[in-house]
Amino acid sequence: MALVVKVGGKALTANLNGILDDVAAHAESASLVLVHGGGGVVSEYSRKLGVEPRFIYSPSGVRSRYTSLEELRVYVMVMAGLINKEVVSGLWRRGVPAVGVSGADGATLKARRKRRLIAVDSRGRKVVVEGGYTGKVVKVNEGFLKLLINAGYVAVVSPLAIDDDGTLLNVDGDQAAYAVAKALRAEKLVFLTDVEGLTVGGEVVRELTVRGIDEVLPKVGPGMNRKLIEARDALRSGVREVVIASGVRGEPLTSALKGSGTVIRGW
Ligand SMILES: Nc1ncnc2c1ncn2[C@@H]1O[C@H](COP(=O)(O)OP(=O)(O)O)[C@@H](O)[C@H]1O
Ligand SMILES: [Mg+2]
Repeated sequence: MALVVKVGGKALTANLNGILDDVAAHAESASLVLVHGGGGVVSEYSRKLGVEPRFIYSPSGVRSRYTSLEELRVYVMVMAGLINKEVVSGLWRRGVPAVGVSGADGATLKARRKRRLIAVDSRGRKVVVEGGYTGKVVKVNEGFLKLLINAGYVAVVSPLAIDDDGTLLNVDGDQAAYAVAKALRAEKLVFLTDVEGLTVGGEVVRELTVRGIDEVLPKVGPGMNRKLIEARDALRSGVREVVIASGVRGEPLTSALKGSGTVIRGW
């Protein structure tokens, strides 16, 4: 059974070695797909190249990067290049066979380009903005991913996609992880992030159900709200369990699999 792990950019930056040590410890026993983020690093290089990153918020409070063509180029370089290869080389250094693919390679992630986005402006008014180079994942080439994991490789996927016209698109990492988990009928989907899990009223929520997600979602801020939305979709499409846990502690994957953080089930 496949295990899909999304590692957020901040957790990767803060605890790359801790994460890779622990992933290496699980690599033989599970068919592993790692989906990584890296938005903070994209923004850093974007600024270095003179492109100021922009973010937009949907009316329900979900944050996305606004991806102009210039921003897309930086996004591709950093996500499919720097970050992906740091993870892949770090795994090989630990003796773990790993293959890095962007969502565009093998059309691992097919997306539909968003032509227009509904966003809220600084005064809270709804505005329509051009979609830029962002997309929604609509199809996963699970056959290609299975080829890799069945051959014993850990697949390291960067959140890029390709559309039917062959255009490269930025897709959200959490959404990419959900789509991969669904396509592989993964048993578990783990989000390793920079906080202990979902916090409500100052406390980490230890257990949650799909119905519970609907209840808390309006109170949850950007970043975490997206994870809950993807968790809900994953559970509705047959993934048994989703865990949102810290990637910045020791043995983060082991702890998450043992039930640290927020464990979400369908019932
Ligand atoms: N209720 C909440 N509980 C936990 N984290 C929250 C909550 N609301 C907003 N967040 C934010 O969500 C962030 C995690 O999402 P994000 O920054 O996108 O990380 P990642 O890179 O792992 O995707 C946390 O750092 C936190 O600031
Ligand atoms: Mg995020």
